[in-house]
Order: sequence, then structure tokens, then C-alpha cells
Amino acid sequence: MREQLEQLKSSALQSIEKASSVEQLQEIRISLLGRKGELTAIMKGLGSLTAEERPVVGQVVNKVRDEIEVALRTAIESAQEKVISARLQSERIDISLPGRSQLRGTKHPISLVIEEISSIFAGLGFAVAEGPEIEHDWYNFEALNFPPEHPARDMQDTFFVENNLLLRTHTSPVQIRTMLKQKPPVRIIAPGTVYRCDSDATHSPMFHQIEGLMVDTGVTFGDLKGILTIFTNQLFGQKTGVRLRPSYFPFTEPSAEVDIACVICSGKGCRVCKNTGWLEILGAGMVDPEVYRHVQYDAENISGFAFGMGIERVAMLKYGISDMRLLFENDVRFLRQF
Ligand code: PHE
Repeated sequence: MREQLEQLKSSALQSIEKASSVEQLQEIRISLLGRKGELTAIMKGLGSLTAEERPVVGQVVNKVRDEIEVALRTAIESAQEKVISARLQSERIDISLPGRSQLRGTKHPISLVIEEISSIFAGLGFAVAEGPEIEHDWYNFEALNFPPEHPARDMQDTFFVENNLLLRTHTSPVQIRTMLKQKPPVRIIAPGTVYRCDSDATHSPMFHQIEGLMVDTGVTFGDLKGILTIFTNQLFGQKTGVRLRPSYFPFTEPSAEVDIACVICSGKGCRVCKNTGWLEILGAGMVDPEVYRHVQYDAENISGFAFGMGIERVAMLKYGISDMRLLFENDVRFLRQF
């Protein structure tokens, strides 16, 4: 048995020496020390020896096993090292090569304008409010005092989702949602996406507005004009003239269209302003008492103004964009310029 063990040991050490890969060495380990390995079999056979023989042979077996294990471990380690140093040779990194720069995205001009307008109004004490794009008829029309036969409710303008649900046609429903949630004083702006069934060079079925609402005691039409003048001067430059023309909205009384002096020709008259020297940028007015009734505000003791502005138009004027469709085609050559 001792002889058998010696033989096993020398042939094992020989094949370990010859093995050239980690895989081969693992196989050798299994064939000797695995569950059905040769050495394992011998160890299992120890039971059949006599009580005197067992410890003597057992000692030899253990010694052989230890020697084989040490040889295996050393061989595996050096095989692994060889693999690593081979990889280090072939995959050498040239640290003198210039880096590959990551392409940075840019913000969409609509987002830039929303951010700029929001920060101007933040400076005037206005918080940002939001509302859903799928809206109830009640918030979009009813509470804003649209009579049932009003043309804006017509299928032509409004995308209906189902009976009383629609895609909001303006950001004004956020006025209602805000007033239902909080008591005066209110000072919010509400930027967001709105939808109308309308599409040509100057109209997109999806576009953006910013709503403004200020309600408090003693708010006047003068405050409205003052806030809008400060705002347009900050957005378009210090000397931009502002003009208010009488208009009509069901939810404001009196109502006005607000024009700024043409930013292209400074009011002299050009193609963009159609030779009028003025550009219409928003609708505004004093909140109609009928609206306060719908949100349980006390119309006797408070007053306020609201305004709504088209963001695409502002972006086009600010950046000199001639066609609204450029804003939504998302051609990166266009978008990268902002
Ligand atoms: N919601 C109006 C529109 O989309 C604009 C507006 C808002 C007018 C607030 C007055 C006050 O045309």
C-alpha cells in the first residue's frame, strides 16, 4: 500500500508539473481528491485495515495528500499569474491617447424660456403651480365662466378624451385648482403643455403656455400692468414698450391683449410685426367675480388679475426662430444651438 501511494504521488506530481492551464490543474485535483478520486478511494479503504496498520498507513496517506495539495495550489497560482501577465502584455493601455469626449445634450428652447420666465416671476414672489394635461370640462371651461355654447368648447378646438374629460386647451384651469386648494393671498405661475385641434406654420396642436394669477386684497389693474412691464423688460430688455388693448375672456373683466414693442425692429415696423411695430404676447385681465363664486372666494373683499402667455411665441421672438415647427421636429442640428 505504501508503494502504491508513492507511485500515486510521483505520477500526480509529474502531471501537475506538465499541466499548462488552471482548468487542467482543476481536473487533476478532481481525479485525485474529488469524491471519486484515486486518493479519496484509498482513504476510504483505510477502514478495512487492521487496528495496528491503520494509523501508520493513515499517516502516509495524509502526508501524500498534503504534498499533492501544496503542489496543486502553487501550480494553480502560477498558472493564474501567467494568464494575468499575458493579458497585461496584450491589452496595454496607451495613456498618451486623447480622451473620447462625451456628447453633452442641451436644453430645449421651450424649457429654457419656461425656466427664464419662472425665475423672473420667482423674483416677484410668484410660486410655480401645476395641473393635469387631461382635464375635466368643469376646470377647463365651466368654472372659468365659459357659457355652454362658447365656441372654444367646439369639437374644432378641443380634443375630447371622453364625455367630461378633455386635453386642456389652456393653463387657466390651474387658476381654479390653485384657488380651490388655498385661500388668498395667491401668487402663482403655471407653465405647461396645452392642446388645440389646430395645425399650420404658426399653430401646433400641442403647445405651451404660462399662466399667472395674483389674488389679494386691493390688487388693481395698475398692479397687472406694473408686473407685466417689469416682466417684459426683464425678458426682452429694459426699454421694451408695453401696450394693453381691450379684449374679452369669459373669466376676466376687464380683459386685455398685451403687446410688446416689436423686438425685431424696435417698433419701426417690419415683417414679423406686420408693420404695426407691436407684437401680441399674452392675454390678461382682472379675475371675474363669477370665477370667485366657483371657488368660494369672497369677491367683495378680494381682487386679482390673471394672465396667459404662449411660450412658443416668446421663444421664437427671443431666439429669432422663424418657423414654429422647428421647435417640435427635434432635429439635433437645430437643438444644439441653444
Ligand atoms: N387662457 C387664455 C387663452 O388661452 C389666456 C388668458 C389667461 C387670458 C388668463 C386672460 C387671463 O387664450
